[in-house]
Amino acid sequence: MRKHLITGNWKMYKTPKQAKELAQQLKTDLADVKDVDIAICPPFTALPVVAEAIKGSNIELGAQNMHYETKGAFTGEISPEFLLELGCKYVILGHSERRQYFNETDELINKKLMTALKMNISPIFCIGEKLSERESGKTFDIIKSQLNNGLAGIKEGIDKIIIAYEPIWAIGTGKTATPKQAAEVHEYIRDWLKKNCSLKVAEEKRILYGGSVKPDNIDELMAEKELDGALVGGASLEALSFIRLVKFQKV
Ligand code: 13P
Repeated sequence: MRKHLITGNWKMYKTPKQAKELAQQLKTDLADVKDVDIAICPPFTALPVVAEAIKGSNIELGAQNMHYETKGAFTGEISPEFLLELGCKYVILGHSERRQYFNETDELINKKLMTALKMNISPIFCIGEKLSERESGKTFDIIKSQLNNGLAGIKEGIDKIIIAYEPIWAIGTGKTATPKQAAEVHEYIRDWLKKNCSLKVAEEKRILYGGSVKPDNIDELMAEKELDGALVGGASLEALSFIRLVKFQKV
């Protein structure tokens, strides 16, 4: 049985002070949750205060990006070592906003994935198609090439990778993939894992869905057995709504 993971990606929101307040409230109000894994990924500058705020709780810490080297002259970059020292268990890699605005390629993401695994940080590897690609029937081709290139050469530690399917047209648009549309792609990803890794890896792999997940659609999305959790942007920025997501109703 794969345990659901509900992750908040706070993107470029929340000052350290605001982040601390939100984290403290989540710690209190989510303390009773046992059957779902919970993670929050604040901006780098808020990681230390959030780490402190959630200490001893059932909430794990994640970062939104990292460099593929552990040290060096890379002005403005963040090493996985820094993340580890702050207690980050997860790191989001290959988010479509990084691909789109910061020109991150599959090859670069592949290097970052390898480093994260070497450093024992679980990557949340994001993949997903653009609207034009979906409309021209290329969704599976895009997913396949992102998997082929992003996971190239990765064998050891592949079980530590969490995959997030985030169709770009659904991110921040209020337009969610239907549970069926999401499940179809998740099944494709699992099938790819079966062929390219092993049956065990495929069956155990947690595949999250991301893209306009909200309190009013979480229940139906999580009812799909292919969906093992969610990666949430906007609706993770407010305590009540994130709490509702974590406490989704099992149907
Ligand atoms: P929204 O939930 O705001 O659509 O963002 C999804 C996302 O990009 C999570 O990584």
